Amino acid sequence: MTVERARYGADAAAGLAGTLPQPFPRTIGPNATSYLHEVVESGLTCNMIGRFEDAFAEEMGVEHCIATPGCTPALAVLACALDFNPGDEIIVSSVTDYGTVQGIIRENYIPVFADTDAGTVVSSAETIAPCITDRTRAILVVHMTGTICDMDPIVELAEKHGLIVYEDACQAVFGEYNGRFAGSLSNAGAFSFDSEKTMGSDIGGCVVTADGDLAERMRFIGHSRGGQMLEGFGRQHVVPGFAHRMPQCTAAVSLAQLEIIRPNVEQRDRMIRLLAEKLEEIPGITPLPIPDYMNVYSCWMAGFSVDPDAFTCTPDAFAQQVAEGGIPGAGTGRYYLMPPALPFLHEKAEKKLYPYSMPPASRDYSYNGDTCPNAQRFLESFVRWSSFCERYQPEHCELAAHVVKEVADRNRA
Ligand SMILES: Cc1ncc(COP(=O)(O)O)c(C=O)c1O
Repeated sequence: MTVERARYGADAAAGLAGTLPQPFPRTIGPNATSYLHEVVESGLTCNMIGRFEDAFAEEMGVEHCIATPGCTPALAVLACALDFNPGDEIIVSSVTDYGTVQGIIRENYIPVFADTDAGTVVSSAETIAPCITDRTRAILVVHMTGTICDMDPIVELAEKHGLIVYEDACQAVFGEYNGRFAGSLSNAGAFSFDSEKTMGSDIGGCVVTADGDLAERMRFIGHSRGGQMLEGFGRQHVVPGFAHRMPQCTAAVSLAQLEIIRPNVEQRDRMIRLLAEKLEEIPGITPLPIPDYMNVYSCWMAGFSVDPDAFTCTPDAFAQQVAEGGIPGAGTGRYYLMPPALPFLHEKAEKKLYPYSMPPASRDYSYNGDTCPNAQRFLESFVRWSSFCERYQPEHCELAAHVVKEVADRNRA
């Protein structure tokens, strides 16, 4: 049997048809060419990375930004910099992308997946609290689709237990929670500038933090491979560092994208709210909830739930008909449920292979959807489309809702 490899970026979107706007080819900030030119003209001596880091930190209102070649590397460097022990537990939202957990797994920490709140794609203090044990060291929340988690109760819970909180804000760049930006609501926040993402800049990412010591440690581990100069010897690597520096050319494109990101996000916010209103009017369809505390919804992925009792077809068939009806990329999103998406982790835990051996593990672990019943149930009937983008205008929201309504009316029970 041939197994199809996962596709990414423009490649994943290739061949999608339909009458609605699509994110590719991406709109690139007007200064990109001149910044790229500077990189080349300087013979790679200009500090485009530093310029991007300073500009992003300033726009976010945080002190430090460490640029990386993606969010997966950003979170890997952060996991290493946190310096926990193998077998220590990090609580992670159960609905996310593999990039969220890769660093945790590589450090031999143990991911413990928190369920989502019923009816949504994000975790909360209520779903995180039962996961806390004496081995928990940190909570990694994910602002999935752009829906920002209710952070104040989560931070309060963490403080009570002496835990670090950090955010995967890949899908929520410049989204606002009670007037503060996603990614700046905890000890640290990580972003992706992957070509598909809202601030698409090819393959890039960063971490922001107000913690100077953590920022310095991340630079040392992530940028300089944990290397320092030893007299009479040369470079000595005192920690297992990474070569995860953002390339200068990506920094040039990212800087240009940063200059156009705020209007992009504002447009997404306006359009997703309009789209949600229109989807709400269709019996049997529930758009993703938009919490009141989220004053800017930097929506990367649009989606809605299908009431299985209201229709004669399965949610998968519904999604397929929606895609055929003109919404490119519409599909169910079961694969976002991390425990079943990581069979190698399940196997390791079952066989009690390191770090699931005793010690360092503190208990038995298993990774399957049953451990996150809300998330599992929700994703069974959730239809999403990541081709939602800043090019949507009111008429496109109208058209998208019309496509969904037609499929709904055709399949009504
Ligand atoms: C929530 C989330 N976390 C992490 C990642 C990984 O980001 P990157 O592709 O920049 O490594 C993604 C990308 O899809 C994501 O959506």
